[in-house]
Amino acid sequence: MSQVFDVLVIGAGPGGYIAAIRAAQLGFSVACVEANSYDDPKGEIRLGGTCLNVGCIPSKALLASSEEFDKIQHEVADHGIRVGQVSIDIKKMLARKDEIVTKMTGGINYLFRKNKITLLKGHASFAGKDVAGYLIQIDGKNSETVIASQVIIATGSKARHLPAIAVDNVMICDNEGALQFAVIPKRLGVIGAGVIGLELGSVWRRLGAHVTILEALPTFLGACDTGVAKEAHKIFVKQGLDIQLGVKITEVISTKKGVVVNYQDSAGKAQKLECDRLIVSVGRTPNTDGLNLAAVGLKTDERGFIPIDNYSCATAVPGIYAVGDVVRGPMLAHKAEDEGVLVAEIMAGQKPHIDYNCIPWVIYTDPEIAWVGQTEQQLKESERAFKTGQFPFAANGRALGMGRSEGFIKVLADAKTDEVLGVHIIGPNASDLIAEAAVAMEFKAAAEDIARICHAHPSLSEVMREAALATDQRALNM
Ligand code: FAD
Ligand code: NAI
Repeated sequence: MSQVFDVLVIGAGPGGYIAAIRAAQLGFSVACVEANSYDDPKGEIRLGGTCLNVGCIPSKALLASSEEFDKIQHEVADHGIRVGQVSIDIKKMLARKDEIVTKMTGGINYLFRKNKITLLKGHASFAGKDVAGYLIQIDGKNSETVIASQVIIATGSKARHLPAIAVDNVMICDNEGALQFAVIPKRLGVIGAGVIGLELGSVWRRLGAHVTILEALPTFLGACDTGVAKEAHKIFVKQGLDIQLGVKITEVISTKKGVVVNYQDSAGKAQKLECDRLIVSVGRTPNTDGLNLAAVGLKTDERGFIPIDNYSCATAVPGIYAVGDVVRGPMLAHKAEDEGVLVAEIMAGQKPHIDYNCIPWVIYTDPEIAWVGQTEQQLKESERAFKTGQFPFAANGRALGMGRSEGFIKVLADAKTDEVLGVHIIGPNASDLIAEAAVAMEFKAAAEDIARICHAHPSLSEVMREAALATDQRALNM
């Protein structure tokens, strides 16, 4: 007889595993299906999706290792610390990253047991509907059909590949191969100056690679506030990243020695980049491979996303929801998690809400970039009258003490009501500092509210207060 569940979640990434936990907390009987073993040495299915296995977590582990290496070589001397010859053991660095990933993915197995969530190992596809609920076929070691009254699709995304570029994850890599280089490439090419290109390009640059990034668009980091993007470009070029904008890739050839990229530069002149490894990071596409959506009357939109109702993540088919990278909106782990919680709570009859304008973005370069809300260019386009306050880390004692004085915080507030409309940071610990701005915006705070809150001294958070004061020309330390 088929197993029957109240809720079946397809995919155990941040959208899926969090939805499963919240649904279980709310009293539903829950199963979660996962197909991927992510090269597990024992071939075991691994939980945590892209984020834990080949995304957020391993990339941040490598970022941290490369930052330590960079600091010892280039920064500690300023503190009077003398070190001898510095070298790095790449094998150990990768093993550390793998250990962190194993710990984190194993943690989800524990959480599933704790919350009595049934883990089904295999590939899920819709097989129709009968009176008891939706029929889901699970193809794994033990194939079976299970039945669920409600289904959450959380199948995530996969790297977008370009038609004439054969990714083998050895010489030409997407995010999966780029997290595994066994030796530091002397010359690294990157196609796409987006989040992955900049984060992973920075990792390998800090470890000694000469990194060239080829970007199709003529502008750098178009989604960021232009002031931040301009500052970031200046800093990254100074650090040694060779960023070429407005290029057109014409041919990529894999040779025994490496990879040759032929391209046109922004002036239309033919150029050749010879490198030892190439990373292709040109965005991600939603993943609905083999889901057989047609069996329940669902289909994807023209870009491959599953269409949903903007408020509830409900698809057009009653009882079937979709969350995370497989639906519209930013492809971010915390957005996927929040949608997972939202759907479980809606199923339980609650009235949760996500304000998509308050979802923070972080780019984990050094310095970090983080923002929430509207950019200056978006406010200008919408013709909303706003005021700007900006304060540099260079005028903050804690930042100077840390040797991290690059960058600034910029607060954008409504010209009349003073409501905070956007906060943009380039600087140290931006990923943590942005949380204050997200809280302020969720509570519809005014810039003056931030300015009147007592911030600890000396701390980087004082830059936020000064930027809020600066919207009213009242910065105290500048
Ligand atoms: P996923 O994490 O992709 O999980 C989907 C899961 O579903 C997968 O495990 C897949 O195997 C499984 N699946 C798919 N189809 C089926 C099926 N039919 N049957 C069974 N299982 C199935 N975001 C951040 O917020 N911060 C970061 O720092 C960050 N860094 C990143 C770095 C890199 C290199 C990459 C690639 C991404 C990064 N992201 C980051 C994005 C983040 O990883 C994604 O937004 C997030 O993982 C999306 O979660 P999800 O649950 O929607 O999908
Ligand atoms: P991206 O969308 O951030 O950047 C892709 C870049 O490639 C763009 O600048 C685009 O113009 C460029 N591009 C596209 N086609 C090209 C071509 N043919 N030639 C040259 N350039 C081309 O995508 P990326 O970096 O692959 O990351 C995917 C997603 O993963 C991100 O959008 C983000 O949602 C998520 N992510 C989030 C992170 C974070 O939160 N810190 C870290 C890494 C990934």
